Amino acid sequence: MTAPILRRLSDLRALHATWRRDGARIGLVPTMGALHDGHLSLVAAAKARCDRVIVTIFVNPKQFNNAEDLAKYPRTELDDAAKLAPFGVDAIYVPDPDQIYPEGYATTVSVAGLTDVMEGEFRPGHFDGVATVVAKLFLQCGADEAFFGEKDYQQLMVVSRMARDLDIPIAVRGCATVREPSGLAMSSRNLRLSPEALGKAGQLYPVLRNLADQLIAGADYAALLPDAKARLLAAGFDAPEYLDLRCADSLQPMERLDRPARLLVAAWLDGIRLIDNIAVDPHPTETSELID
Ligand code: PAJ
Repeated sequence: MTAPILRRLSDLRALHATWRRDGARIGLVPTMGALHDGHLSLVAAAKARCDRVIVTIFVNPKQFNNAEDLAKYPRTELDDAAKLAPFGVDAIYVPDPDQIYPEGYATTVSVAGLTDVMEGEFRPGHFDGVATVVAKLFLQCGADEAFFGEKDYQQLMVVSRMARDLDIPIAVRGCATVREPSGLAMSSRNLRLSPEALGKAGQLYPVLRNLADQLIAGADYAALLPDAKARLLAAGFDAPEYLDLRCADSLQPMERLDRPARLLVAAWLDGIRLIDNIAVDPHPTETSELID
């Protein structure tokens, strides 16, 4: 069954009130649309844990630091609704722009520290846009749980911190990255890669995997880095914007693997910017657990 598409906050609130009266636990999956299996895995996780699930689709202009990127962002609402139908989603909220940023809108939510590095450094203003829109979506949707992909690991950390700092009563859950058979993390940007570039992009994950395995085996990160960068260049990537080993919680740089860590990378390939990351846990447990 296709879920209702709501465009006004008042309609969402009216539906929400009936669910609350029934005592339903409400799950939220924020997206910008152009849905793929990565997004749909979040929907499945939300359906498994919650009685009612809202998927939001809003291409948030405030988080794009590049006007061309915003203009090129795919808008595929009908396809998206069709992909959501088999999941039994309860509402698709596609807010009209004035429902998020009404005339005179003046407030920005900014998370310090976590946003200074990596994506924050290379995409100035991006995380202010993300934190602002996600705070609004949390408050508008009144959900008990919200589901985010580890694919955007820094974003997951930023929205978790924001919800905690602002006392928004919502549990932020992180879900494992969904990958192509090559290991390439699914992303709407992959559609912009030529078939040849797609083949090259499949080299990113093995480079991360190999680095992680060597770190877990006791190798020194600084010693491994030149070879990992050379492998990316040989695969056809530009020199990475960053290829960092960081603490999994604080995102502080790490030199020794003495706590759960994360390897995070951003690199351009044929004019497309790709990001990825993996867990590097000195005492690994196979599953990537939901983060509260
Ligand atoms: P978007 O890029 O549409 O992603 C929506 C959610 O899907 C994010 O939580 C993202 O991490 C997750 N996701 C994307 N690719 C994934 C993959 N391969 N595996 C698992 N999860 C994946 O991220 C945003 O939108 C926006 O910044 C948003 C949070 C909606 C705020 O505007």
